[in-house]
Amino acid sequence: MKGIILAGGEGTRLYPLTRVTSKQLLPVYDKPMIFYPLETLLRAGIRDILIIVAPSRAGDFLRILGSGKTFNARFTYEIQDKPEGLAQAFIIGENFIGDDTVAMILGDNIFENDFSKDIDNFTSGAMIFTTEVDHPERFGVVHFDSNGEVSEILEKPTKSESNSVVTGLYVYDNSVIQKAKSLQPSPRGELEITDLNNLYLCEKNLHVKRFKGAWFDTGTFESLFLASAFIRQKNL
Ligand code: TTP
Repeated sequence: MKGIILAGGEGTRLYPLTRVTSKQLLPVYDKPMIFYPLETLLRAGIRDILIIVAPSRAGDFLRILGSGKTFNARFTYEIQDKPEGLAQAFIIGENFIGDDTVAMILGDNIFENDFSKDIDNFTSGAMIFTTEVDHPERFGVVHFDSNGEVSEILEKPTKSESNSVVTGLYVYDNSVIQKAKSLQPSPRGELEITDLNNLYLCEKNLHVKRFKGAWFDTGTFESLFLASAFIRQKNL
């Protein structure tokens, strides 16, 4: 399985911290943020990793991560010219993915859990990882029918009855490339990963794994601060 770390974007919610550097290079306690999602992939045995970055920041990532040798891995770099959505990663990464399956993690997502068993057992379709949060409106929210089956995923709903959200680790079979190419940009101009996941759901090929451990989407000052405090306390 190949791995992708999506580490572009503008990080506008963290201005002025992200005016001159990338969000994913900011410190989370004692390491640059991107080290944590990288560790999640490495722990799952994924060694061939594409790092997608914004054009103005590419050199910084190269300097800190290099070829991957020091991580016992191999890194490839691609540029995302504009932040046109998470699902664009599979179009940018088409050649890198080749005929393989792929796990993508967002460069600002920090997980306590070890997902290596789930990733090892993945064969086909898509696998997403959900958890419960108090304010689901920032995320893709999973809705369930009366039988407890996933009925749909809604992207950033203004109001939600479900607290179950899709976190930033996704595993896909090779059809993800063609599926990503078939997407139309959303009203906010992005190729939405929620639309991609709903395509798999329509095919009854979406595997949803609920987990309990800590998870941080460190895109806000509050979550960035809490993540640092958590890492310090747990010595992760
Ligand atoms: P977001 O937090 O949704 O976007 P952002 O990082 O640009 O931040 P803000 O909303 O504050 O402006 O992105 C989640 C992760 O995905 C983050 O690591 C950046 C990355 N990303 C890309 O690399 N390309 C994209 O097109 C988008 C939308 C996000």
